[in-house]
Amino acid sequence: MTRIPLRVTGDDRTFSLEPGQSLLEAAMAQGLALDHACGGVCACSTCHVRITRGLAAFSEPSEDELDQLDEARGTGLDSRLGCQARLERPPAEGTVEITIPAWNVNAVREGHG
Ligand code: FES
Repeated sequence: MTRIPLRVTGDDRTFSLEPGQSLLEAAMAQGLALDHACGGVCACSTCHVRITRGLAAFSEPSEDELDQLDEARGTGLDSRLGCQARLERPPAEGTVEITIPAWNVNAVREGHG
């Protein structure tokens, strides 16, 4: 299946995403740091991302996901859990772009610093 280009704000690399794959799966497979404290079972909100391009191509969020996002900081209408948002179809925009909220990135850096 066609791989869709995936860009991350502030990161010069171009990643990719396959239809059916979650953002967390794609991140882990390609060395993109995306926190996932609960291991990807929708029980935390550390994998929160904002999908700034291509959002409509992803699976609909479940009630559980929306509950977790209520707990997350810096959320908006384009917020998703990286472990739950699966690409369902090629996006009309041709690419997917995400932003990993700054406080998440900081938490990761502090954890390794
Ligand atoms: S990794 Fe915990 S909800 Fe996604």
